[in-house]
Amino acid sequence: MQSINLTKKFKDTSWDFQKAFTKYSNHGFHTYPAMMIPQITKRLIEMYGNKAKVLLDPFMGSGTALLEATLHDNFKKAYGIDINPLALLISKVKTTPIEPKLLEKEYKNLIENCQEDKKDINFRQKTIEKPNFTNIDFWFKPKVITDLAIIKKNIDQIENKDVKNFFLVAFSETVRNASNTRNNEYKLYRMNESMLKKHNPDTINLFKEKAEENMESMKEYYENYNENCKVHILSEDTRHKTSIQDQEVDLIVTSPPYGDSRTTVAYGQFSRLSLQWLGLNSKDVLNIDRISLGGIPTKDLNNNLKSQTLQETLQKIADNDPIRARDVLSFYEDFDKCVQELHRVTKQGAFICFVVGNRTVKGVQIPTDEIILELFQSRNHYKHHNTFIRNIPHKRMPKLNSPTNISGNHAMTMNEEWIVILEKQ
Ligand SMILES: C[S@@+](CC[C@H](N)C(=O)[O-])C[C@H]1O[C@@H](n2cnc3c(N)ncnc32)[C@H](O)[C@@H]1O
Repeated sequence: MQSINLTKKFKDTSWDFQKAFTKYSNHGFHTYPAMMIPQITKRLIEMYGNKAKVLLDPFMGSGTALLEATLHDNFKKAYGIDINPLALLISKVKTTPIEPKLLEKEYKNLIENCQEDKKDINFRQKTIEKPNFTNIDFWFKPKVITDLAIIKKNIDQIENKDVKNFFLVAFSETVRNASNTRNNEYKLYRMNESMLKKHNPDTINLFKEKAEENMESMKEYYENYNENCKVHILSEDTRHKTSIQDQEVDLIVTSPPYGDSRTTVAYGQFSRLSLQWLGLNSKDVLNIDRISLGGIPTKDLNNNLKSQTLQETLQKIADNDPIRARDVLSFYEDFDKCVQELHRVTKQGAFICFVVGNRTVKGVQIPTDEIILELFQSRNHYKHHNTFIRNIPHKRMPKLNSPTNISGNHAMTMNEEWIVILEKQ
């Protein structure tokens, strides 16, 4: 096993993009936890993928890398994989060009229909069917439920599927913004009583603002996207064999989860209310965090993972807390299955760019950047080009977060990210 060449790993603040505007093109359509900065993706594509034809993001999230691929002329295909249906919807919509005139026409009808329904309901001439998921009244005020139900009903009547999905993304943001959740947290916490009293959102207006903002972005995207780049959004699991051909991919740009969702970012919790409003089966929604990497802890610490750094780190954590060490191991066991799949789908000469966080568990920092390198190198010769260490700008990934599910139980999380660049030899 090769050991890491430390001259290739260094802090480079030019990757911080502290003040960069990250919402250009369709990047601002919908918030998502731990989104990648589009400027990082853009720079990675320019440095390592200017001749690449096929890009893959195996942990696509809200589709930042895919959208960037469609803004570069060289790509013919962009694949994205995710297990979260909300990620699939957002990514699809961000990368599907729609003629601005068509959007405007459908939007005008949609808003007129919503206003008609609202008038009829106010005058008690009509009732509206509302969804019936557990705790809906805990998370939404009655007036908000009625308004959301009106918007959803009218979006469902749109025939063109791309247009319908476009408005569902704005609707999903509205669900979040109009709900009783504290919006600056990714986990589901309800507002306290005094915040709740003041919370009286104009839901239809919130939807209009978001839809109009996204329509403005789409106008610009429609003029600039690369029509030769076909986007494939795969509702698959990167741990298993995917529908991508052997050695098809020549550039991977991705940011995987930082760790299991119980103790890092809970993608399932973040998406739950939106997905329930969008009509997904509650059982499937509750399952998202379990099927994410590391969702099911291992029974013991026995493993065959070929990373010395990981084995040493696991031992240090186990000395403090064997149960937490098993959580960590389950994440890397799943991660290794993904490495196996990425090894299968990449061409010789492909560049692999991972943006990762080295989180701390029980006082032990886990050097994920080095573990990734060792897991790839255990399969073939992968040349390590560089590891750039960047500061995480404010807000993007909260520096304070709750490592348990207890609100207010905060601990310092990561302030830095590692951008690891490998080339398959
Ligand atoms: C850090 S986020 C990606 C954010 C993305 N770069 C963006 O800009 O929005 C990681 C993603 O990995 C997904 N994920 C977790 N386990 C997965 C698996 N087994 N296969 C595919 N995706 C998975 C999560 O659902 C989440 O959307």
